[in-house]
Amino acid sequence: MFQPPSGAPDATDPPSNPPVVPPGETCLAQERCGRRSTISGASELVAVLGDPLRHTLSPAMHNAALQELGLDWVYMALRTPPGRLAAVLEGLGAVECRGLNITLPHKAEAAQLAQELSPLAARLGAVNTLVPRAEGGWFGTNTDVEGFLAPLRSCGVPWQGQQALVLGNGGSARAIVAALAELGMAPILVAGRRQENLDRLLQACRGWAPTLEGVAWSENDLRPALGGSTLVVNTTPMGMARSGDPEPTATPLGPWDLDALPPGATIYDLIYTPRPTALLQQAIARGCRTIDGLEMLVQQGAAALRLWTGLGEVPVAVMREAALHQLAIQSPGPP
Ligand SMILES: NC(=O)c1ccc[n+]([C@@H]2O[C@H](COP(=O)([O-])OP(=O)(O)OC[C@H]3O[C@@H](n4cnc5c(N)ncnc54)[C@H](OP(=O)(O)O)[C@@H]3O)[C@@H](O)[C@H]2O)c1
Repeated sequence: MFQPPSGAPDATDPPSNPPVVPPGETCLAQERCGRRSTISGASELVAVLGDPLRHTLSPAMHNAALQELGLDWVYMALRTPPGRLAAVLEGLGAVECRGLNITLPHKAEAAQLAQELSPLAARLGAVNTLVPRAEGGWFGTNTDVEGFLAPLRSCGVPWQGQQALVLGNGGSARAIVAALAELGMAPILVAGRRQENLDRLLQACRGWAPTLEGVAWSENDLRPALGGSTLVVNTTPMGMARSGDPEPTATPLGPWDLDALPPGATIYDLIYTPRPTALLQQAIARGCRTIDGLEMLVQQGAAALRLWTGLGEVPVAVMREAALHQLAIQSPGPP
């Protein structure tokens, strides 16, 4: 049976004072707040560090899971401007923070600041999850790869030996290349609009992804690459909703490009606002299998929660439901 970590209430804790409310009446504070806070004086902290964090779904997702698990922990979004990460990590280490997610723009710096790295995080030079070490300092790893792979593994397609095309060569593209290499996909093509950035990714990844090839972002080069690809992954932000543009029509590929795909191809867009993106709408119209980025978000979070708590099972369905609910609340509306 799961032993609650320190901080969870136990039988020796003094009982908190019961509210003095006559039967049939509602406590005024409770009425004003709508519901009681579950944060206590013994609550422990987990958090995400990044900047900006205004639209992160992680607090909704993790707090729902922590409540379901009965843990007296609270998950906060702590906006950490560039240049402050080292100080924030030291401070949170000092207050025995239980674990951290790291997001833009700090994933590479977190890999440099962590006292210990998983082989995957060392290979990627990027950390999205920090776990406190018993001897002090942080163990850094990367659960984006596991999160990205979860929906590909569950759809029953034999990916090994199939060609994949990754659109974009930024931070997440490296994790995606690592994931595709783990699936045994080959060759792995990466399309980038700036040759120097594309070359940097190829150089960083070729040692462990030997079938990696660069593709120039032009119709002449993209079309033949699409023609042989069973899986296409969009890692560019093209098509992502913003407050001034809630339903963007921008897509990294035109409808004519999708016609070049082999039958039964899968299009995976890392974006999850809007659902579906314009790219996935076009892909659905052409009968492709489609996957958006929400499951990746949920599964990378679930993997992080397993590491922080030491639990083998975490309530993934509760996390998914909370993320979807939060997404519906904060979907960008008209300006
Ligand atoms: N679902 C999830 O859990 C999850 C996780 C991570 C990221 N994401 C999403 O994935 C997207 C990328 O994130 P990231 O961290 O990789 O960002 P990033 O490091 O900024 O990389 C973005 C890449 O897209 C390319 N790009 C941007 N605009 C383009 C355009 N108009 N045409 C062609 N290429 C273009 C950039 O090219 P240059 O190199 O030439 O600038 C760069 O290679 C974001 O939308 C993010 O929200 C989702």
